[in-house]
Amino acid sequence: HVTRRADYTPPEWRVPDIALDFDLAPEATRVRATLSVERNAGHGPLRLDGAGQTLLSVKVDGLAVNDWTIENDALVLPLAGGAHVVETEVEIAPDRNTQLMGLYASGGILCTQCEAEGFRRITYFPDRPDVLSRYSVRMTADKARYPVLLANGDPVAQGDLDDGRHWAEWNDPFPKPCYLFALVAGDLACNSGSFVTQSGRTVQLGIWVRAADLAKTHHALEALKTSMAWDERVYGREYDLDVFNIVAVDDFNFGAMENKGLNVFNSRYILADPDTATDYDFDAIAAVVAHEYFHNWSGNRVTCRDWFQLSLKEGFTVYRDQGFSADQGSAAVKRIEDVRGLRAAQFPEDAGPLAHPIRPDEYQEISNFYTATIYNKGAEVIRMLATMLGAQAFRAGTDLYFERFDGTAATCEDFVASLEEASGIDLTQFRRWYSQAGTPRVKAQLSHETAGGRAVLTLSQTVPPTPGQPVKAPMVLPLRLKLFGADTGRALSDERLVLLEDDVAEIAFETVTERPVLSINRGFSAPVVIETDRSAADLAFLSAHDDDPFARYEAMQQLMLDTLVAAASGMHADQAAVIAAIETTLDNSALDPAFIAEAVLLPSESFVGDQMAVVDPDAIFRAREALRREIGRALEPKWRAAYAQAAATGGYVYSPDAKGLRRMKTVALGYIAASGAADAGALAFAQFEAADNMTDRQGALTTLASSDAAERVAALDIFYNRYSDNALVLDKWFQAQALAQRDDTLAAVEDLARHRDFTLANPNRARSLVGAFSVNQRAFNAADGAGYRFVADQLIALDKLNPQTAAKLLPPLGRWRRYDAARAALMRAELERILATPGLSKDMFEQASKSLAQ
Ligand code: ARG
Ligand code: ZN
Repeated sequence: HVTRRADYTPPEWRVPDIALDFDLAPEATRVRATLSVERNAGHGPLRLDGAGQTLLSVKVDGLAVNDWTIENDALVLPLAGGAHVVETEVEIAPDRNTQLMGLYASGGILCTQCEAEGFRRITYFPDRPDVLSRYSVRMTADKARYPVLLANGDPVAQGDLDDGRHWAEWNDPFPKPCYLFALVAGDLACNSGSFVTQSGRTVQLGIWVRAADLAKTHHALEALKTSMAWDERVYGREYDLDVFNIVAVDDFNFGAMENKGLNVFNSRYILADPDTATDYDFDAIAAVVAHEYFHNWSGNRVTCRDWFQLSLKEGFTVYRDQGFSADQGSAAVKRIEDVRGLRAAQFPEDAGPLAHPIRPDEYQEISNFYTATIYNKGAEVIRMLATMLGAQAFRAGTDLYFERFDGTAATCEDFVASLEEASGIDLTQFRRWYSQAGTPRVKAQLSHETAGGRAVLTLSQTVPPTPGQPVKAPMVLPLRLKLFGADTGRALSDERLVLLEDDVAEIAFETVTERPVLSINRGFSAPVVIETDRSAADLAFLSAHDDDPFARYEAMQQLMLDTLVAAASGMHADQAAVIAAIETTLDNSALDPAFIAEAVLLPSESFVGDQMAVVDPDAIFRAREALRREIGRALEPKWRAAYAQAAATGGYVYSPDAKGLRRMKTVALGYIAASGAADAGALAFAQFEAADNMTDRQGALTTLASSDAAERVAALDIFYNRYSDNALVLDKWFQAQALAQRDDTLAAVEDLARHRDFTLANPNRARSLVGAFSVNQRAFNAADGAGYRFVADQLIALDKLNPQTAAKLLPPLGRWRRYDAARAALMRAELERILATPGLSKDMFEQASKSLAQ
């Protein structure tokens, strides 16, 4: 069954108010729902979505009725007239809910996840985001097991019953769609704080976790306060309830959820202390806390009309959280990380069988569309708008959008139209970013006549065909560019913002008195692939002289990429140019260590593969290892000096500078190990043992995990024993082995899948082994297909428990077009086997069938 954007019709019935009464118990929870319904359009019956519950009774206007029917799991009630009160009572079983959608149990906590279509698994309701209701919620539960009862909005009343049970009532005054409903019941401790808003209201903040985890909530609470202040300052957005609660649970399908006033988080995005969380984890926690908090405006106060508009809230909110993170430390490093993430996850999606525009036209299962395209490309589209409008007009546009659509369910078009109106800039053609999939490619050619001092830049764009979209129209591409003099290293022009709107354009530069070198797509101003004929020398020059940090990084990456692609294709590869450029970067004391660490890292094996007509995983691995070894050897004294310098900085602190030095330390360690130095294993093991923080310890562990060092096994064992009772850290242990660059990785991963600590029931654990392994390009693509078979086996098993998480892990198997015929046949065979599995979920069916389509 396919749902189409073009088929949208307004809801026939509104539900202005709903009262929910939960009698909570893990094995059987009773839910009584009282809906006030009003006709909105049409003449049809009232249709309430449902899934999996046992219906106990239905009343209309206080009287029991039995003229209802169940159609496709929906409760259909023939209702005459314009307004009624409908009451239903159902029973559900949270402890048997392995899908983790609706009301479920996680480690003794009862919690909910409703986005996108989980509310229908709790009670009968029009489960669509354009039906907005005021919620009042009453919960009753055993007081010893569930001493804390939370829901959206503000607490109203609570009390004890004489049978050991107690109750609480919560009220949310803001009308919301049902996907933002949440409740939590559990034995939870609270790290509480407060925030005074710009208008002087005091908000009570609470981070709720198991008592044993309370000491790990400080960072999240601070990040929440920083986010609240940031959204006031940067977007003028103030919080609107008296309380804001966050609950962390261990079993969660994705990162976190922005339920109104009651965010529910995957515990990996809340819990942190230096001993168990890396710098990366700390940064991700702040980013996700900010993301969910920012949704209070971009998502909750203004929500989505239908799920095709998902990027309206997700793309914009990712853009907002990226801006927040950029302001907490090095904006340049943050941009590099975000672009690396986009290229790793979104570019392959856009180039494969699951490609879709940021505003899709159809879906079978909406859960499959929580993608890097909707989120990360969506954020890039908002970033381009901000670039084109400038900061002031962009802010005027977002102000207009929030004011005009507050309290409503809006569309992507509403957002663009607000920006257009506030800025006076015509965005007609820009709207193609919402409708066309595929990563545009831009060819840039620079010619120069020394005599006239004139340089001409010829730009041309193509947008590749994607499924269902064979022919594309040209996009609006905002390209920040600048010329530098090859002889003097001086800037030959100011930075220009060029809007490439046609297939081809020529841009002239005057008074270009020396040979110019092109710096283009600075800051990654457009999410495109740039093809230039810049020589290795010019790229090395830019990597040393460009004044845009991203462009410096990019020049170095391009230089490395050209070298690796050539080597993997059996052509001559100029290792010396790469080594010299790295050396220049290492020697530049004006650069921030965090930036240097990013700049000197080689592109991933998969990114190298993405540049090749046919991916050759073994050749790429060999070429990359050979280059790593040469970089390690040629610059060994520098790596050792950089290592010693970074290591000599004293005890652990979490600050941008300290993070940069830790990053540099592990990058240097990696190159020392790559050089083949005899003491590399001992050095890594010493770092592992002496570490006073998880960043250093994990850095050493992952270095050892890919090595043949004698210390490898000991480090893995020590790590396991030390953290065997900490699920989040054990995930790192599984992941390090799944990502290891070794010949025996597949065998090790097969063993790990039988390890007593492995379970598919926990999404983090499943991802740490199966997800990590399937991005290990060489191991996953073993020529005999054993890697494919392993992943397919796991996904078939996982689909029976948790289709949503299983389907998310399928795309690597869909990349068969990128490989040689033998591998492609093996991958296709696994996709066929998945499709032939009896009882396959619609989530998996959609992903697998689309992946096979020719
Ligand atoms: N809205 C949540 C967030 O981005 C994620 C919800 C994901 N839902 C899903 N069905 N995959 O913050
Ligand atoms: Zn989000």
